[in-house]
Amino acid sequence: MNSKNNNIIHIPYGGYKNETSINGVTIRQLTEKKGLDILHHRLGDGNRWAVGPIAGWDGLEFVYILKGSLSWKEKDTLKIASIGDHLIMDPILEDTLFKAIGETEFLYISSDSMYDSVDEQVKEYMDLAVTVEEKDGYTADHCSRIKDLSMKVGEVMGLSSEAMLELNFGSFLHDIGKTKVPDRILNKPGKLSIEEYEEMKLHTIYGATLLKKTGIPILEKASTIVEQHHERYNGTGYPKGLKGDDISFLANIVAVIDSFDAMTSVRVYSQGRPLESALEEIKKERGRLFHPEVVDAFLFIQKKGEL
Ligand SMILES: [Fe+2]
Repeated sequence: MNSKNNNIIHIPYGGYKNETSINGVTIRQLTEKKGLDILHHRLGDGNRWAVGPIAGWDGLEFVYILKGSLSWKEKDTLKIASIGDHLIMDPILEDTLFKAIGETEFLYISSDSMYDSVDEQVKEYMDLAVTVEEKDGYTADHCSRIKDLSMKVGEVMGLSSEAMLELNFGSFLHDIGKTKVPDRILNKPGKLSIEEYEEMKLHTIYGATLLKKTGIPILEKASTIVEQHHERYNGTGYPKGLKGDDISFLANIVAVIDSFDAMTSVRVYSQGRPLESALEEIKKERGRLFHPEVVDAFLFIQKKGEL
């Protein structure tokens, strides 16, 4: 229920027209005028939120922590801001990825409204990716699972904020090109014919093209992961048969995670393999299909019980 008294406005979550919720991050636009944008953000424990420079934009960005803490990496130093702390980015110079420690809330004030343009556009693409996971016979949360595990691997490998941000979007959107693959191929319960398989393979190129067309720098960067997530370390993958270091390191991460998830998930045409058997397969392909360092990081996460 909305109420308005003496200029105090109380609107419960879900009551805002401009409220976006995806991947454990809820953003609501409290007010906006002449470009000034005031947003409330709420992140579940461990969820991430990012800011980055946009060409031609040099506004002020201000964050004030209301609850919990945010951690991020600046060069190689880990920084933490907690309740009552504030951050000023004037303007933001590099991609920064924040992670919530405990349930975290903060006010985000920007001197130039980005809410409608970038956030909405990115959300549109994320929604599109989620429609793919349903069409593709996966249970819900496939995209989120791939993203969460990819980010864990990236964290273990000590990736930069910029790389983590690219991985965040690239992993979530890896199969977005399947929106262009006909349903009769996506939903076919049996084996695909050679022609159908060739069409299916094109989802890598379709996805990369979609992201490049957005004009959003981070999605343009992430298009490489999307294009290469089926490339394999020994050159037996697709679409280009790239080998070893010619494959984007971030795409190697998504390749391992996506393969593991495909093996263990229940799909329209398969029951899903037991965890142990899938792990054996990943180990067996270390240095063959999969990048050895990525496999090591993945197994490290598994040993910690975080799969
Ligand atoms: Fe794929």
